[in-house]
Amino acid sequence: MPQLPPPTQHDSAYFDFLEGLKVHNYTHNVKGLLNRYEEKASEFKKDRGYAPSTMEEAGHLLEPELLYQFACATQHCAQHMMWSASADSIEAHHEKLLALMQSENGDSCVKLELNPNLKLPTWYTEHDIHLTPGGYWRQDLVGAVYQRALGVYATSWRRGRDPGSFAAFARCAKVANCRRILDMGSSTGTVTMALRRAYPEAEDVVGIDLSAAILKWSSLTAQEQGLKIRFVQADAANTGFPANHFDLITAHLLLHEVPPEVGDQILHEAFRLLTPGGHLVMLEAPRYGVLPPELAFLEDFDTRGNGEAFWGPFLSRDLPSVLRNTGFVEVKEGPLEYDEPTYWGSAGLMRTGEFKLYNRWVTQGRKPLHNS
Ligand SMILES: C[S@@+](CC[C@H](N)C(=O)[O-])C[C@H]1O[C@@H](n2cnc3c(N)ncnc32)[C@H](O)[C@@H]1O
Repeated sequence: MPQLPPPTQHDSAYFDFLEGLKVHNYTHNVKGLLNRYEEKASEFKKDRGYAPSTMEEAGHLLEPELLYQFACATQHCAQHMMWSASADSIEAHHEKLLALMQSENGDSCVKLELNPNLKLPTWYTEHDIHLTPGGYWRQDLVGAVYQRALGVYATSWRRGRDPGSFAAFARCAKVANCRRILDMGSSTGTVTMALRRAYPEAEDVVGIDLSAAILKWSSLTAQEQGLKIRFVQADAANTGFPANHFDLITAHLLLHEVPPEVGDQILHEAFRLLTPGGHLVMLEAPRYGVLPPELAFLEDFDTRGNGEAFWGPFLSRDLPSVLRNTGFVEVKEGPLEYDEPTYWGSAGLMRTGEFKLYNRWVTQGRKPLHNS
């Protein structure tokens, strides 16, 4: 993104090292571990007459392995190092970036609507999500730090994050005559901007987030790109927008970061806000129920080792059923139709190249046209 200051040689060397460390962890430690799992799973089957089929059974086989402990420790350290290196690379430009964020945006196409009275929920403020110091909200420059870190997180800091997957997500609901769009948990605005580009005719594209600091950053980015977007500080569980208002609502990597009961409130709120026939589209890591047990166990690392308290509780749920119970129809789930060119996310512990299909898991549904 244009407004990030260029990294120094020291920063670049650090980021390259971290990416190398993460890739090595996936391709050697995790892969080696999975080879070992195959041997142990076949011994298990010989002994018991059935193959391990639950995360718990897979975990009993994987957890004692030194390679597992080493892979977890490596990923955990890499995550801490990623945040501190990203913050250091931004710190030298603190004053300049802050001034940029506070500058008047005059008659910009971007509208930023902050709500100083919004009370941030304690589940949001009380722990540092994915080990980010201060979470999304405590540091003024969290947007810049987050944006820099995401490149390293996805092992693509030199190439930049791949915009193709966001464009594919923005288009996957294929909504005709889409007039109003809401992106819940918009963060740095990457998906909101992809939605704006996918639906140039839409009269209103709105990104909401709890964090004022991150909204200031996303509006600056959208402004630089000349994209007409409204960024609003609001809680996705209780937005204050009118009912039957949006034709398309997205939540890209939001629900795993909120407690399950808040997730339920967000789904009810999305249902209320959608026009009859309107679409809800969400993207997350694949839920445990669609993964082989050993991959589900490895994916659960984020709950235990990456500061993601709600990751496991969310991914253990059967989201399509939850959507149906909320009233949505035509509910479906599956991998995003997009050929991922690189490794991606979830602290990457279980993501070697072979699991590409599972990387981005889309769940969607429609509000019925008529009340039943
Ligand atoms: C993992 S980020 C997702 C970012 C973005 N959608 C993307 O995929 O690039 C989650 C974002 O959701 C925001 N968030 C968490 N709970 C929220 C809530 N109840 N209402 C609005 N935003 C929320 C966080 O502040 C954070 O910026």
